[in-house]
Amino acid sequence: LNIILLGPPGAGKGTQASRLEDEHGMVQLSTGDMLRAAVKAGTPIGLQAKAVMDAGELVSDEIVSGLIGERLDALGGDVSVIFDGYPRTAAQAEALDDILAARGRKLDHVIELVVDEDALIDRITGRFSCAKCGEGYHDRYKLPTVADMCDVCGSQEFKRRPDDNAETVRTRMAEYRAKTAPILPIYDARGIVTRVDGMAPIDEVNDAIETVLATAG
Ligand code: AP5
Ligand code: ZN
Repeated sequence: LNIILLGPPGAGKGTQASRLEDEHGMVQLSTGDMLRAAVKAGTPIGLQAKAVMDAGELVSDEIVSGLIGERLDALGGDVSVIFDGYPRTAAQAEALDDILAARGRKLDHVIELVVDEDALIDRITGRFSCAKCGEGYHDRYKLPTVADMCDVCGSQEFKRRPDDNAETVRTRMAEYRAKTAPILPIYDARGIVTRVDGMAPIDEVNDAIETVLATAG
């Protein structure tokens, strides 16, 4: 199965993708995570991407499509994949079709997380994660069970993303509206889009996605 989770910044793509990884052994391919890893490692791609990401703008189509191709090559052909944060432009949507076809895969489904933009600023600016294992938390919606201790690995160190401030989030939203939302009609025309209410609690969104997957395969 090859599915895309589509939605604006803070819609819950990463949250839901990691649930699907845990529950179904699917693999999450997040271009945002790949780029952040490249920035952290100081690779040439990371050096190029950092300023663009900090400004909330989009990294070049060639770079992100290249990352996706490489990552797919490293996976077995029978592994199910969730694309999170990719594709984000019409050029990336086209590239993805080619990338999948070249590897004997095809896009099965697109799940759009439909959300209220005003609520997203709050979701994103309240977000933090474990510095050691990456588990995601939120100041109000998902605090560690024991104060200041990661539920998963016990670490007491947490971090916030540099692009998670209100101003950058507004730029990221504008980029989504201008460049990413317009690719939905491409997939609508293929009849493979399902819209899920991303404002529901995390478990309910997960249930709704499970229902889609059960019929998409
Ligand atoms: P990327 O890392 O993809 O960020 P994004 O799209 O802005 O998405 P987020 O990670 O902010 O949000 P999410 O939808 O995953 O939400 P989450 O689950 O964390 O991209 C970052 C940057 O990299 C881009 O700006 C760009 O520069 C570059 N980039 C990446 N891919 C690119 C590409 N393909 N092309 C070009 N450039 C690219 O949830 C958010 C918070 O809300 C969490 O705290 C969570 O706990 C909480 N939450 C989640 N669901 C719910 C719920 N149902 N109810 C209440 N709270 C919830
Ligand atoms: Zn942890």
